[in-house]
Amino acid sequence: MTNYDKIFNGPNLKAARIRTKEKVNIVHDAYELPLGMADFGKGKTYYLKTYGCQANERDSETIAGILETMGYQEIDDIDHADLIVLNTCAIRENAEDKVFGKIGYVKNLKKFNPNLILAICGCMAQEESVVNKILEKYQHVDLVFGTHNINHLPKLLQQANQEKDVTVEVFSTEGDVQEDLPAKRADKYKAWVNIMYGCNKFCTYCIVPYTRGKERSRLKEDIIKEVAELVDQGYQEVTLLGQNVNSYGNDLELGYDFGDLIKEVAKTNIPRIRFTTSHPYDFTFAMVDAINSADNIMPYIHLPVQSGNSEILKLMGRKYDREQYLELFNYIKKTMPNAAITTDIIVGFPNETDEQFEDTMSIYDYCEYDLAYTFVYSPRNGTPAAKMADNVDLQVKSDRLRRLNDMVNEKAMKANKKFEGRIVEVLVDGPSKKSDKVMSGYTRENKLVNFAAPSDLTGKIVSVKITEAKTWTLNGELVG
Ligand code: 5AD
Ligand code: SF4
Repeated sequence: MTNYDKIFNGPNLKAARIRTKEKVNIVHDAYELPLGMADFGKGKTYYLKTYGCQANERDSETIAGILETMGYQEIDDIDHADLIVLNTCAIRENAEDKVFGKIGYVKNLKKFNPNLILAICGCMAQEESVVNKILEKYQHVDLVFGTHNINHLPKLLQQANQEKDVTVEVFSTEGDVQEDLPAKRADKYKAWVNIMYGCNKFCTYCIVPYTRGKERSRLKEDIIKEVAELVDQGYQEVTLLGQNVNSYGNDLELGYDFGDLIKEVAKTNIPRIRFTTSHPYDFTFAMVDAINSADNIMPYIHLPVQSGNSEILKLMGRKYDREQYLELFNYIKKTMPNAAITTDIIVGFPNETDEQFEDTMSIYDYCEYDLAYTFVYSPRNGTPAAKMADNVDLQVKSDRLRRLNDMVNEKAMKANKKFEGRIVEVLVDGPSKKSDKVMSGYTRENKLVNFAAPSDLTGKIVSVKITEAKTWTLNGELVG
């Protein structure tokens, strides 16, 4: 019997694939600290590191909120923490490698602090193969908990503290939608707001539908209430989060969709609304019109294309072809000519030919995206694409990536150049990375701007005249 066979609460790939028609419960005000846990973290510190996407960023806010109700205090020095939580990402192999490196590092820390608790959560915790590897090779891990198990964290910490063996609780089938969990928001002016969890698309390369479960939408009323509270607290921006925001509401069957939701959110008068990520298949023209209908919905759309070739798109299970993507893209360009559009692209999908890759280059050339996140395909255990034979050399894949990135840079510069001389609205984030006399913030189109200004403008929306475009950022002067 392997270590893994002893674990009953570990992830299960087969169970993670299942999608039932059953409605999930939406649970309000159910969170309670178990008896005696309110002081568990008193006088102790935690270090929380987040990998991956905004869904993880938002989950980390809940984890931090829960830990602070237990008395823990956050520190950013991993070497001196009593509890280390790694909220992990499984999207590509290199994301996982980074986490295993960090887990290895913590082994040494345990020599100095034997009471140190190491917890692994997030998308890697949902993977059967990863948990197996942890149990076999990284036995200094104390706790593994899944993306559906965050609300059990106090109970699990108690257990991990008492037991010598690793504590594992990973539900492969999604739980209820838990409203009203504690949260410690990372920012005072910009907030993440989940509108839905999970994903039902099952793109053949992607691990997310397995790690995040079935699509579950939050009720419109709960989302609006959260945004209204953020407005009261002085927040300037919300980003509505979902793996595929365009399928929001499908599971609720209450007769409203993403377009209806975003129009309602706009009525809260939060100054800025963003949303991510969009999926071209579920993105209707009516949703484009809804985005275009209110001034506080930002003209910025992240619209992953993944490939410009229809055969590859079919193999990827994207459910749209090149022409259908372009139809949507053209509609957005026509109705929102000033909107910024960015994308995600995977090169080197199994057996991608030179000609098929050229279609990706040509769609990029046509769309002239503001920016793109580009990746070499990384096989993910348990996904259909990982079983496909692949005749493309790694060198060929990285050459394609380089060529594509050259075009990404060229078009990014071209898009940024259009801003030179314009006066734009910037929500000030705070001092820039380079100097505390230079502030940085984002335009409505999500362009990062650096400009000289006093730091008390943080959290304000100011006018900036763009003086110089660079590939990734804009420089400007404060004008009011
Ligand atoms: N390999 C490479 N890139 C991937 N992505 C998702 N899965 C993989 C994978 N297996 C990319 C997609 C997605 C982005 C978040 O990550 O482009 O849109
Ligand atoms: Fe990474 Fe995807 Fe999980 Fe986000 S949902 S943390 S991108 S694997």
